[in-house]
Amino acid sequence: MREAGSHSGRFVTLEGIDGAGKSTHLGWIAARIAERGHRVVTTREPGGTPLGEHLRDLLLHQQMTSDSEALLMFAARREHLELVVRPALERGEWVLCDRFTDATFAYQGGGHGVPLPYIAALAAWVQGTTRVDRTFLFDISPEASQMRLAHAGGDARGADKFERQDAAFFARVRDTYLDRARAEPGRFRVIDAARPIDEVRARLDALLAELEAERSPT
Ligand code: TYD
Repeated sequence: MREAGSHSGRFVTLEGIDGAGKSTHLGWIAARIAERGHRVVTTREPGGTPLGEHLRDLLLHQQMTSDSEALLMFAARREHLELVVRPALERGEWVLCDRFTDATFAYQGGGHGVPLPYIAALAAWVQGTTRVDRTFLFDISPEASQMRLAHAGGDARGADKFERQDAAFFARVRDTYLDRARAEPGRFRVIDAARPIDEVRARLDALLAELEAERSPT
């Protein structure tokens, strides 16, 4: 259920452990949504606003407690919702967001041990009545994702703080994502990200058609 004054926009988020390949698919998904005749805003978390991008830089490269990490993620999210996500949804546009609150549950919660009820309380405060319509979870084993990251070779900045975590960390992150997908089967669609790219895209296309056909949220 979305707040009053509903529209035909959809709020879609992409999730998965680092190296699952979600960034590879982001631009392609945005293009497919546009080809289907919808205006689409592509954005990311942490980030998406001037303050959010500053916080992203800190979050990805500065050591801090896990609690601070969770709190700053939600500060960035609050700005992002207010300045980018809600206005776009109110205009009837689709919002395609590279990571959202599920990432805080998975990384700060599952990965770093911040109690999940604290994260749920922050989510309730920061998100209010805004709901994600669909989450595509790119699922892959930590071993396969580590191989992909190693092959990618890292960019000039080198790996960020999260990408340097070990396989046990990513196993916890993955398990938390899968727990959330099981708890909310209506919202989540789990995609086997180890499959060849064409197969993943065919599935994504079918999932976009399914989402488009759903009755407009009221
Ligand atoms: P990512 O999408 O992996 O960026 P890139 O593909 O450019 O490396 O996101 C950056 C990192 O932020 C990723 O490792 C996960 C982390 N993250 C959290 O730990 N908690 C969160 O709430 C969010 C949104 C991201």
